Amino acid sequence: MTLKLPPVDRPGLIATRRDIHQHPELGFEEMRTATLIADRLRGFDYTVTPGIGKTGVVALKKHEGRDGRCVLLRADMDALPVEEANDVPYRSRHSGKMHACGHDGHVAIGLEVARRLAPVSLDGSVKFAFQPAEEASNGAQAMIADGVLDAPRVDAAFGMHLWNDLPVGTIGVTSGTIMASVDQFEIVIHGRGGHAAAPHQAVDSVLVAAQLISALQGLVSRRRDPLEHAVVSVTEVHAGRAFNVIPARADLRGTVRTFGGAFFNAAPRLIEETAQGIAAAFGAQVEVHYHRLSAPLINDERLTALMRDVAADLVGSANVRQGVRTMGGEDMAYFLERVPGCFAFVGSGPVNGRASPHHSPTFDIDEESLVIGAELLSRTAVRYLES
Ligand code: NI
Repeated sequence: MTLKLPPVDRPGLIATRRDIHQHPELGFEEMRTATLIADRLRGFDYTVTPGIGKTGVVALKKHEGRDGRCVLLRADMDALPVEEANDVPYRSRHSGKMHACGHDGHVAIGLEVARRLAPVSLDGSVKFAFQPAEEASNGAQAMIADGVLDAPRVDAAFGMHLWNDLPVGTIGVTSGTIMASVDQFEIVIHGRGGHAAAPHQAVDSVLVAAQLISALQGLVSRRRDPLEHAVVSVTEVHAGRAFNVIPARADLRGTVRTFGGAFFNAAPRLIEETAQGIAAAFGAQVEVHYHRLSAPLINDERLTALMRDVAADLVGSANVRQGVRTMGGEDMAYFLERVPGCFAFVGSGPVNGRASPHHSPTFDIDEESLVIGAELLSRTAVRYLES
């Protein structure tokens, strides 16, 4: 790297993260967060456009460079409907809302990268996308629809997730598919209500639900090529209000996760067929609603190699982990569907001991990971524009 960047402002980075942690906002409600971001970025002399994808913020620093390329750095900024159980000075001040996935850290890192890149003369333009509503999987699409990848056209995109499954000081950088598609299904089972003591006069929606839940597990174990990754989880079951009444209706919801491939394509049909078949066997009717929420996240091979080199310089090649993948989803996938890039996992768990998992009420990070994340994204942007 030929450019000299200002050093990371560790106390500032941590203070920003804690400030945002105290004021969590759910998807598309990130008003305070977006205002804070826009104000800071204007202070760094970026061209700032708020309201991209509802509450999203875009910042641009234009440099002609040799070939007029533009690199996009993306940070998501939404919190979760979780009640924080940590007793820390920077505990969430909004009851029932919490930054339980580390997006507070992503915002702080994004702002610190913007601050460091602001004074240097880059060999091309840099654009920041502070994205709303990652958890609901529709913030990225909203920003793309509002033109975040245009004017100037984005040539490459990078991002990262703080990752408690990895100890701080390690970085996961893996080429190819690293995060899953996220599909959601809802199944409404219509039976016929009746007396619990006279099941032959009713069509028992609860029994159909039970059979269907079991049958859906057979899709992964028996209808999928075992060499393809897939998960089917039924996560909501609603039926009945009385111990002596067979309810007419039962509702199931759940999710399908894949890394793409034949099972991804077949899943909507397989779920429909299974639901219809099981319902028919018991004389019930079903409605199946199937929604694709997020595509699999695919890292570009060449740009993954570039980011991996940056990571190795930063933490040593022994601490760069390959093969870090998850069946969790990430709507960064929509950016990487349109432009090549790489999404990395920056270890934020304790070196010894077990971290609280993402989305749990005791989730927290080792804040040293913020420094590593800020270095990783800053240097990746510079190296990409120099490459
Ligand atoms: Ni997340």
